Amino acid sequence: SVPHGAGPEQREESAFLLACRRRPVPHTPVWFMRQAGRSLPEYREARAGIPMLEACARPDLVVEITMQPVRRYAVDAAIFFSDIVVPLKAIGIDLDIKPGVGPVIADPIRDAAAVDRLRPLETDDVPFVSEAVRALMGELGGTPLIGFAGGPFTLASYLIEGGPSKTHDRTKAMMYGEPELFARLLDRLADIAATYLKIQVEAGARAIQLFDSWVGGVGPEDYRTSVLPHSRKIFTALEPYDVPRIHFGVGTGELLGLMGEAGADVVGVDWRVPLDEAVLRVGPGKALQGNLDPAILFAPWDVIATRARDVLARGRTAEGHVFNLGHGVLPTTDPDMLARLTDFVHEESAAR
Ligand code: CP3
Repeated sequence: SVPHGAGPEQREESAFLLACRRRPVPHTPVWFMRQAGRSLPEYREARAGIPMLEACARPDLVVEITMQPVRRYAVDAAIFFSDIVVPLKAIGIDLDIKPGVGPVIADPIRDAAAVDRLRPLETDDVPFVSEAVRALMGELGGTPLIGFAGGPFTLASYLIEGGPSKTHDRTKAMMYGEPELFARLLDRLADIAATYLKIQVEAGARAIQLFDSWVGGVGPEDYRTSVLPHSRKIFTALEPYDVPRIHFGVGTGELLGLMGEAGADVVGVDWRVPLDEAVLRVGPGKALQGNLDPAILFAPWDVIATRARDVLARGRTAEGHVFNLGHGVLPTTDPDMLARLTDFVHEESAAR
C-alpha cells in the first residue's frame, strides 16, 4: 500500500515502471492497448451521441473513460484517452474520426505548400489535455498514467492519404520520390508529437508510448533513412523528463532493432515475433512489451491461459517485460476475459 503523498521511492514501486526500467518486479505488469474503448459497455454508454473528437476535448469524459478499465481490471497502468490525430486537429487541420473507419482528413497534404502550412503545437492549443491529465492524477492513486502520441510515419500516412490506407501508396511515393519534402513533413510531425507528449508528462503522465502503428510497411533501410531520425528527435526531446519511453508498431518484426535504436526504453512487439526472438532482435539494454494476439481472447479460457503462460515464459528472457496484447483490444472482446487474463498474468508471474 502506497501512502498519500508518496515520494520518489514509493513511486518507483509501480511494477509497470520497474519493468520499463528493467528492475526486479513483484509480478509481471500488464495493461492493454485500447483497454478503454468499445469493448466496454460503460464506454459505449459514456460515448453515446458524442463524436469521438468531442469526447477527447471534454476533460470530464476523458477522465471517466480513462478510469473505466482501471476500475474493471487490476491493470498496472492507465492509458490517456485521446487519439493520435487530436494534436493535428488542434493546430487547425480539418479532420474527423469516422466511426468504423478512422481519421479522415478534408484536404490531404501532398505538396510543399501544404507541408509548410503545418504549424507547431502550443500548450494553449490543447488546454483540455493538461486539464484531464491533472484531474486523472487525483483519481489514479498509485496507478501510473501512460501518455501517447502518433509516430511520424503513421501521422504522415493519415495526412497524405487523407484517411486509413492498407498500402500507404501516396505516402511511400513521397518517401521515395520527394525525400526532402517527406523529411520536412516528418520533422514537423515529430515536433508536434514531442510537444504533445511533453504536455502530458508535464501534467503528470509517468510514461509515454509512441504509436507508429503503420510503420511496419516500411523496409529496414528506408526506415533507417526516412523515419528513424524523426522518431529519435521525439525520444530525445523526452529524455530530460526521465519517463520510460515505449515505441510500438504493427508488423515491425524486421524493424525492432531500429525502433530500439531510435531511443526507446521499451520496444513493443506484435504477436508475429515471439518475445524470446524479439530479445535477440532488439539487443541488450531494452525492455519489451507484448505480445498476445488480441484474437486469442475469442478462444476458450484454457487456450488463452496456455498462450499467456507462453508469452510470460518467453518474456522472462527479456531484461524487463510488460505484458500486453500484440495490438489493441478488439471491439467485440469479452471484458471478463481481460479481467481473468490480468489476474492470471499477476498470479502466474508472482508465483515464480
Ligand atoms: O488505448 C487506449 O485505450 C487509449 C485510447 C486510444 C485511442 N486511439 C482511442 C480511440 C489510443 C491509444 C489511440 C491511438 C490510435 N488512434 C492509433 C494507434 C494505436 C493503434 O491502434 O495502432 C491509431 C492508428 C489511431 C487512429 C484511429 N482512431 C483509428 C484506426 C480508430 C478506429 C476507427 C474505428 O472506428 O474502427 C480511431 C478512433 C478511436 N480512437 C476509437 C477509440 C476508442 C474508436 C472510436 C469510437 O469509439 O467511436
